[in-house]
Amino acid sequence: MTSGHLRIVVCGAGPAADILQLIEAAQEQSWTTTVVATTSALDFIDTATITELTGNPVRSTYQTPDVSGRRTMPPVDALIIAPATYNTVNKLASGITDTYPLTSTAELIGRKIPTVVVPFVNAALAGRTPYQRSIADLRAEGVCVISGPDDDWTPHPPGTGTDRRALFPWRKAFQLATQVSPADTGRR
Ligand SMILES: Cc1cc2nc3c(=O)[nH]c(=O)nc-3n(C[C@H](O)[C@H](O)[C@H](O)COP(=O)(O)O)c2cc1C
Repeated sequence: MTSGHLRIVVCGAGPAADILQLIEAAQEQSWTTTVVATTSALDFIDTATITELTGNPVRSTYQTPDVSGRRTMPPVDALIIAPATYNTVNKLASGITDTYPLTSTAELIGRKIPTVVVPFVNAALAGRTPYQRSIADLRAEGVCVISGPDDDWTPHPPGTGTDRRALFPWRKAFQLATQVSPADTGRR
């Protein structure tokens, strides 16, 4: 597997606290990482530790380019949105870009960067029609969504998220996102 740069978008759900597992999985394969956090996710993560481990600040808002117009984020070879909340899955699929994480993610998907979404959504929410439609729409667009019996990752019964958190498929997400090498997709 060729190494590259992985963008991780983390949302406000319990497994966000375990995001270091994904960073470490990437680093074991010599991939560098940047973490973008939704505002809700900031309550779940240790931004100082993530910044130290990745060497990149955690971004959750827009940043004005410096005077040279240089972009401040490294080019991205693969994108993982995990844990993806009900809120973010639906907004992403609908094309809503009212935050920095959503705007940057929408653009990377539009650029055909290999993208994996790993929802952490309970069964009551996952059964809703808008959510089912969102998952189908993202897949139709070429986004890999790890969800369903075939993926061995199904929505959990409401109130059991804490038990399910330990099973979150961080390494599977990394493997799927990086199956396509940067040389095949073109760096962005
Ligand atoms: C302690 C806590 C746990 C939560 N767990 C989940 C969850 O597992 N899945 C989910 O979709 N939302 C969960 N939420 C709700 C989301 O954080 C909320 O919908 C938020 O608006 C999501 O914003 P984001 O998608 O921008 O991260 C949780 C909220 C709190 C406070």
